[in-house]
Amino acid sequence: MKNNVNIQRRQLLKFAGAGVAATAALTTFPGLLSAKAMRVSGQPSLEFNPDVEISLTEEVKYVPIFNGPQTRVWKVLGKVLKGEQSVITNDDKSYLAPTIRLHKGQKVRIYLKNKLPSATILHWHGLHVPSKMDGNPMYAIANGETYVYEFEILNRAGTYWYHAHTHGLTAKHVYSGLAGLFIVSDDEEQALKLPDGEFDVPVVIQDRNFDQQNQLQYSNHMMQRMHGFLGDQIMINGRPDFELPVATRAYRMRLLNGSNSRIYKLAWDDGTPMKVIATDGGLLERAETLPYLMLAPAERREIWVDFSDKQIGTELTLRSLEFSSGGMGMMGGGMGGRGMMGGVGGGELASGSDFSVLKVRVSKKASSNDVLPKQLSQIKALRLADAENPQSPRRITLSMRHMSALLNGRSYKMNDIREDEIFPVNTLQLMEFDNGFHGMGGMGMMGMPHPMHLHGEQFQVVKREVKSKSGRGYSSVSEGFLDKGWKDTVLVMPGEKVTILKPFNDFTGLFMYHCHNLEHEDMGMMRDLLVK
Ligand code: C2O
Ligand code: CU
Ligand code: CU
Repeated sequence: MKNNVNIQRRQLLKFAGAGVAATAALTTFPGLLSAKAMRVSGQPSLEFNPDVEISLTEEVKYVPIFNGPQTRVWKVLGKVLKGEQSVITNDDKSYLAPTIRLHKGQKVRIYLKNKLPSATILHWHGLHVPSKMDGNPMYAIANGETYVYEFEILNRAGTYWYHAHTHGLTAKHVYSGLAGLFIVSDDEEQALKLPDGEFDVPVVIQDRNFDQQNQLQYSNHMMQRMHGFLGDQIMINGRPDFELPVATRAYRMRLLNGSNSRIYKLAWDDGTPMKVIATDGGLLERAETLPYLMLAPAERREIWVDFSDKQIGTELTLRSLEFSSGGMGMMGGGMGGRGMMGGVGGGELASGSDFSVLKVRVSKKASSNDVLPKQLSQIKALRLADAENPQSPRRITLSMRHMSALLNGRSYKMNDIREDEIFPVNTLQLMEFDNGFHGMGGMGMMGMPHPMHLHGEQFQVVKREVKSKSGRGYSSVSEGFLDKGWKDTVLVMPGEKVTILKPFNDFTGLFMYHCHNLEHEDMGMMRDLLVK
């Protein structure tokens, strides 16, 4: 198995077409071997020449998040072994994993060392990497083991992230700290001269519960598993009560919803609209203005905020506004508030209630400002005509039944590829996520929002349809979707059907698709697909 992916080989694969690739897939299809036999050794490959080498060590640590007792977390410590030190930013005051910054075209080798009392594996969310580098749960390594990742950054500039993807334990592992940002830059983006340095602010939004001793509390009783875990403490970049002092100028803010299950409806409290410049897969063609934006788990949005007309001393709050998530969410007090779910869900903050996310304080005069470019990027629109199946989308139905969350009626199982989960390499596929749009599946009591994610290359949303625009508080969220640009996660509300065009280029092997409500994912709302 070759880990080094150079451009010639990718093009060769493209031109050789499915025939050659399919043969390759037969010999390397991991499903034919046991998970153990497929475990990559701790040895780097000789033919891979990395520009950057880093090590990520997972271990139990105590970090000072609050005054008083330190919090026990599962910490990832990053170290640059080769390349610029700026590739890794550790934050020893939070549970967050280090931020990794790389440039498109760079080849990176990552040594993942597990010193935790559990098997783990890390996945690079949104990155287009070979199957064996993708952090499939079957590659989980035990305490004391090392996994060597080697890949080239093929993605365009954007705010990606990485997190644990351990079988049945992803929610718990991410909650404990195994997640961080993975920021990619490229020449196109750098030529734009967007705000950078202290004016380029990552904002990882998560919710947690802490006990009196400042210790993380996680519970996944029946209710949390059906709804997903909700915490009543909003954390930004791993910190409580986050305040950002800003200057009177423009900022680029990179929002990531790194929560297990909470969906945010983000808006500025002074009525300033949200100006979105980028989404999961990088810059949009031009900025889009929304009254508020819906941000589901794993989704990213970059916003442009200009404070140049503000007085020194002005305070602004980014809030999550009330909304109804439909279906069972209605039991949680309908339009938010402390409903039944709030109590049962282990938090004061019910899903869809109104709360503060972060505060901005305009605290100094800026000496210069940046102008938002009219054109940010050019995005090649995927064409239906180029899809292999323009008339017959691959439908994935989302449903919850009893104590399971299902995709096409199935739960996750390793080595369980079905006919409709095989995709020919180097094809473009029309797919749809159906959350009760046809039939009753997603409506009624069991209707829940599902942020659907596909590993591998970014996709484009073709259309979003809803069974009833007037149903279940749909109007409380409908202006907050932004389906333009490149996406890897798309929120599918109860009664909705979202149609996408998804490319399956370059790499054969297993890739996952799943709901990114991590409790749903662990409950089985996840499957492997095979590209061959
Ligand atoms: Cu964010 Cu399967 O991952
Ligand atoms: Cu992913
Ligand atoms: Cu879900």
